[in-house]
Amino acid sequence: MVPLIDLSRKLEANADAFALATRQVLDSGSVLLGSQTSQFEKSFANFAGTKYGIAVSSGASALQLGLAALGIGPGDEVIVPAMTAVPTASAVCAVGARPVIVDIDDETAAIDLELVEQAMTERTQAVIAVHLYGRPVDNLGKLTDLGVKVVEDCAQSHGATKGLAGSIGAYSFYPTKNLGGIGDGGMVVTDDPEVAERLGRLRVHGQSEQYVHIEVSQNHRMSEIEAAWLNIVLPQLELGNQRRRDIANRYQLANPNIRWQARHVNHVYHLAVALTPDRDEFRQAMLKHEIATGIHYPLALTQQPALQQFVSAACPVAEKWANECVSLPCFPELTDDEVDDVCAALVDIDL
Ligand SMILES: Cc1ncc(COP(=O)(O)O)c(C=O)c1O
Repeated sequence: MVPLIDLSRKLEANADAFALATRQVLDSGSVLLGSQTSQFEKSFANFAGTKYGIAVSSGASALQLGLAALGIGPGDEVIVPAMTAVPTASAVCAVGARPVIVDIDDETAAIDLELVEQAMTERTQAVIAVHLYGRPVDNLGKLTDLGVKVVEDCAQSHGATKGLAGSIGAYSFYPTKNLGGIGDGGMVVTDDPEVAERLGRLRVHGQSEQYVHIEVSQNHRMSEIEAAWLNIVLPQLELGNQRRRDIANRYQLANPNIRWQARHVNHVYHLAVALTPDRDEFRQAMLKHEIATGIHYPLALTQQPALQQFVSAACPVAEKWANECVSLPCFPELTDDEVDDVCAALVDIDL
């Protein structure tokens, strides 16, 4: 069976380096916010093309603290795309603001910029643009021109964008991401020194100096062990992204009749996503060839039970996307033979 993802391959390849790094962390006596974390913050901000990087405990925390650091809170509205992981919207709720769910573009699955403009009210403080599946959102500058803050949800797009079009970028290091951690982790990147300083406080209970808390927050720290792992795998990210691109290109060439998420030169293919109205048949056919597939995501935000209270407009494009999308195996450690097997199965598919 060709797996949708197999983390054990990457974990195994880095096991010895990680054992050594873990030993160094233990010897240092510093297990939180020590030298591993500060080194990773510098290296990752440099990779992302930003001045500052503030490591936090998850991608969800990165979004939540990013919004809070921009001053977004109760009474505010934040526009989010209807096709994304639920944490994009729940982060808005976590700061007490209201997510306004807007439909997506049918080719790219990115938020529809015209609909964003229509959804704006005097309460709109920000828009979250999600680089879904690793494809950079086109024309992000248009969003910044609308006069609202732009938050880039980069949870799936490490390396797809350099620098920020928006005010902040929020990354996740969930283990399956392009830069995957050994547990949970995240980072907020920004070029604004005041926002960076505030983020540094917000991740440690709003503390400005020991035992002095100048705003209310919670614990969103990353562990030194997590940072040590991320320092090991960060130098492998560019090559891994290139491998993902090569794999996705081969799939797209294998069967030109299949519809794919629109291409982009900087796509980093966190997921290689095809679209078909006959999804069950497609998945069955792949299974017969012993190829695993997945669905990201089977429900648009407008279809999520927990988010019904925030649904104000229909999002038919996102709901159709949720019905038709299917993810194929696409991770750097796939062998050439496995990629050949997926291509052969795609060639064989007749929908
Ligand atoms: C688009 C998107 N945003 C936010 C998140 C939240 O990241 P985490 O799982 O690290 O909290 C994820 C990952 O699940 C995601 O894919």
